[in-house]
Amino acid sequence: MNDVIKTILNHRSIRSFQSKALTNEQIQTIVASAQAASTSSFVQAYTIIGVSDEEKKEALAVLSGNQAYVAKNGHFFVFCLDLHRLRLAAMYEGMTEDEIYDAFVSTELYTVAVIDTALAAQNAALAAEAMGLGICYIGGVRNNLEEVSRLLQTPDYVVPLFGLCVGYIKHVSGKKPRLPQEAVYHQEVYLAEDKHIAQLAAYNKTISAYYKQRTDGKRTDRWTQQIAKKLKNPQRLYLKSYLQSKKLPLM
Ligand SMILES: Cc1cc2nc3c(=O)[nH]c(=O)nc-3n(C[C@H](O)[C@H](O)[C@H](O)COP(=O)(O)O)c2cc1C
Repeated sequence: MNDVIKTILNHRSIRSFQSKALTNEQIQTIVASAQAASTSSFVQAYTIIGVSDEEKKEALAVLSGNQAYVAKNGHFFVFCLDLHRLRLAAMYEGMTEDEIYDAFVSTELYTVAVIDTALAAQNAALAAEAMGLGICYIGGVRNNLEEVSRLLQTPDYVVPLFGLCVGYIKHVSGKKPRLPQEAVYHQEVYLAEDKHIAQLAAYNKTISAYYKQRTDGKRTDRWTQQIAKKLKNPQRLYLKSYLQSKKLPLM
């Protein structure tokens, strides 16, 4: 099998890293890979903030919900949605504040920037994995965005969306089984509901068996159970007001 595909299919999040920093060359390769990703209308609406300062990483680990591996890794990247640079470009071309405001009150532009940031990040993640390193995304940075923004000195129109731990692997995690392909890849039209539910029931068995085997029987939760639990406990409800405070009132 082709090496790129082998790397993609071998993915698992790594949460235990050796205390060995990445070299500048490794960091540059990872960032160059991120930048090579496709970008909607060429807007490149993201910024990546690299964090190697130990104290700052410790602070981010706490702010992200006490996730130790945010501090203990080879390098920590924060992927930020960035409309600030688009604003600078618009001002450079003589657009007025009102014109820029009108353009930025746009759920479409926000969506474009989120997609761009995610595509860049996944390219970075794959590059790191192709170099034999481990990665773990950290949505936990959205637990305390005001403090994270302050720590990283991000201006208005910039939103840290998630972090990415990268480093030399200390402990290899197990590979988590994904949904059956029939559940996520539908031919021609969206899958009929009864067939969809049957796929979920089959997947529940796979996931329960996976947890059972990995925890000596302590965990046997179903995937649907995890999803229902998540939906019953909505997180980060302050996000809308945070975006407004960053001058991104979405319409
Ligand atoms: C945007 C994003 C945010 C995530 N945030 C966290 C996080 O804060 N902490 C963590 O341990 N894992 C985090 N993960 C990793 C997921 O839990 C993981 O990808 C998922 O459980 C599947 O496991 P796998 O990556 O090992 O296949 C995140 C993943 C993504 C894509």
